[in-house]
Amino acid sequence: MKQFEELFQTADWKTEKHVPVIECPDRVKAGEFFPVKVTLGKEIAHPNTTEHHIRWISAYFHPDGEKFPYQVGHFEFTAHGESTEGPDKSSIYTHHEVSLSMKTGKSGVLYATALCNIHGLWRSEKEIKVSK
Ligand SMILES: [Fe+2]
Repeated sequence: MKQFEELFQTADWKTEKHVPVIECPDRVKAGEFFPVKVTLGKEIAHPNTTEHHIRWISAYFHPDGEKFPYQVGHFEFTAHGESTEGPDKSSIYTHHEVSLSMKTGKSGVLYATALCNIHGLWRSEKEIKVSK
């Protein structure tokens, strides 16, 4: 039996369309909000169809030296072209791209996770340094 964490795949986002791409400053000021953008398929587009799409993105921040991470956002994408006319007939789609603002008093690591409805769980991470 696999451990749950073994089900999360990762790779270089430049060559793999399922890896969450985290865009935020490398260095931030303590206690000041900064923008974070998470998307998938920055270099190679991930499909967004009724049959094949990204269901959700979740983001966590783990401050250096602390035992547990904090969830900073969870985003569900709930329109993928489905309609009473059939799959990919509505023309309504939510794109797998999210923006949030956060602040921290401690340096740490931002983790992003995502679920593709047919290719499973993916993750990536980015270090954020706080300057006082
Ligand atoms: Fe996929």
